[in-house]
Amino acid sequence: MALFRIDKFLADMGCGTRSEVKNYIKKGRVAINGLVVNAPEHKIDTNLDRVSLDGADINYLEYEYYMLNKPQGVVSATDDKRDRTVIDLIETKNRKDLFPVGRLDKDTEGLLLITNDGQLAHNLLSPKKHVDKVYYARVDGIVTKEIVEQFKEGIILSDGTLTRPAHLNVLETNPSESTVELTIHEGKFHQVKRMFEACGMTVMYLKRLRMGTLILDKELKPGEYRRLTQEETERLKKEDR
Ligand code: URA
Repeated sequence: MALFRIDKFLADMGCGTRSEVKNYIKKGRVAINGLVVNAPEHKIDTNLDRVSLDGADINYLEYEYYMLNKPQGVVSATDDKRDRTVIDLIETKNRKDLFPVGRLDKDTEGLLLITNDGQLAHNLLSPKKHVDKVYYARVDGIVTKEIVEQFKEGIILSDGTLTRPAHLNVLETNPSESTVELTIHEGKFHQVKRMFEACGMTVMYLKRLRMGTLILDKELKPGEYRRLTQEETERLKKEDR
């Protein structure tokens, strides 16, 4: 049983701000099981009660899960004074409490999970779980066999910390740059850029392709998103145990 104040329920379901929905209630636009309610503090049971606004049913949605192909130039935050955030991009959201699971830098593209499921996020980000992340990167210079070996051993970052072993797959090299696919098993701040920096190289382009079992949908252009399928959600939840 989940009991909620009717004004909180309506605001959480994206019907308006808390003060807007209070106004709707005062104006008699909200009904519970067909009876108009006038008190914003009235409690409803989401399993039993049917709520409507202007005659349209408002269904309870506890969690939302979105896969976003994050474009460059937006920040991985819930709100920001200067920049657009990844949450601003999710136009079809119902819940007001969505957040990105982990961060991608402003200039990084690719897979970002957006949800309000705090337990799932906590487990996916837990350093103990070592959920793997796969990145596509373009770096300046040539990624040699020695560098691939160093990544396999773990890289000592400029602050002296040693990363966990990482798998570096060189896709292409030319005299001035290399493209690689990199798998890491942790999520330190700016980790990929710092790993290459420690080898004297600069990451020029970075895109996340996978996080655990969740693979970026190739159909999504930067800035586009979709809801996770039930199968994707269930696989992620299994992974986090
Ligand atoms: N590593 C980085 O350096 N940046 C990101 O955005 C993600 C991983």
